Amino acid sequence: MRCLSVPPEDPPPAATPAVARVEVPVTPLGPAPGLLSPAVARDPYPAFRVLRESFPLARDEFLGAWLVSRYGDVCEALARDELVALPPGRTLAHMEGATHRAHRALVEPALRGRAVAALAAGASRTAHVLARRIAARPETDLVAEFCRWLPTAAVVAALGLPHEDTARVQRWCRDGLGHLGGGHHELDARLRPHLARRRSRPGDDLLSVLCAAEVDGRPLADGTVAGLVGSLLGAGGEATALALASFLANLLDDPAQLALVRERPELIPAAWAESLRRDPPAPVVLRRAVRPVVVAGTALPAGAVVACLVGAANRDPARFADPDRYDIRRADPGRLAFGAGRHACPGAELAARTAGYGLHALLDALPGLRWAPGFRPDPRGLLTRGPRTLLVRPR
Ligand code: HEM
Repeated sequence: MRCLSVPPEDPPPAATPAVARVEVPVTPLGPAPGLLSPAVARDPYPAFRVLRESFPLARDEFLGAWLVSRYGDVCEALARDELVALPPGRTLAHMEGATHRAHRALVEPALRGRAVAALAAGASRTAHVLARRIAARPETDLVAEFCRWLPTAAVVAALGLPHEDTARVQRWCRDGLGHLGGGHHELDARLRPHLARRRSRPGDDLLSVLCAAEVDGRPLADGTVAGLVGSLLGAGGEATALALASFLANLLDDPAQLALVRERPELIPAAWAESLRRDPPAPVVLRRAVRPVVVAGTALPAGAVVACLVGAANRDPARFADPDRYDIRRADPGRLAFGAGRHACPGAELAARTAGYGLHALLDALPGLRWAPGFRPDPRGLLTRGPRTLLVRPR
């Protein structure tokens, strides 16, 4: 049982005045590129490069946000206390101060080390079942048949929920569970009997850990546990699914590197980390200033919206040599895809294990895995990004 004492809540942020006018240096290069265009959603990297090189802090009027693109500036902005999650919601990502620390301390230990190794074992079984099913087909879409299922199934299994709930959770995520966290009526109702059972007979799953946890000497209310479960299901499933799709696309696009991980599976964690660097599933993380804050060397007022361009930072040549190249032997791909500071992703290890088991299972079951004739991956999106289909020949 985990006991936590919650310190008094941090003082509420001061009322947010209207955004004051901020002077950013005028460059002779014309306007900075904005992010809200179909061309940028198709491929944001040319715009990211221009921003990084010439407009390290740029105002995007259509988005209503300040764009930050250099590696050091993005890391710093993500870690600033004055900048909080946007859009508003009720998940762990939206909590701040003592409330955030207390709730995060409850889930973190179960998502690390030996605990997560045991929890992720379910993902390995699911990966092999899915891969064997794919092996029987002449051609398949890996996104629909593998990437969308495996990560949600992994989080569902880690929580100790029935496997049959996987499809239902996917639907909830599509309907916005990622921002809602708690207060999702269908999830609350579905969880109720599971919570009652875990409270009387705890198991070794993550739901039991949350049911047994105490804050200030009192167990968490059902609504609080449901909120945390919503955070995990919402945050974990979609990001890992998109990242897994980009990971497979990067390897299938480079048969020599794919052959290398087949031959030397110990390279899989590095190959995964490098794919997250080159193609993060959340290339833009939005924040709102609750107090005046300095971003990329410029003072912004309370109320300012800041778009932290993780995708641009991850290809900053000042930090990574030959940054557009996918290179599984890169010595230090970093981990900015998981954010930085107090809100940095607590699910990174579960995601890495899920992806590792996933790739192992595919390599075992599909010795001839390659693109279907004529197929090219076509990643889309800005806030969340990845290929939406991956047509392959398994044999
Ligand atoms: C490749 C997969 C994943 C990626 C790229 C990813 C990325 C991120 C990012 C960028 C953030 C925001 C960090 C920030 O605001 O600074 C975040 C937060 C979070 N992620 Fe992940 N995530 C992944 C998988 C997971 C998984 C598997 C889980 C849990 C099962 C998870 C749970 C969370 C939670 C609960 C938060 C909020 C943390 C907080 O606010 O303290 N994520 N993730």
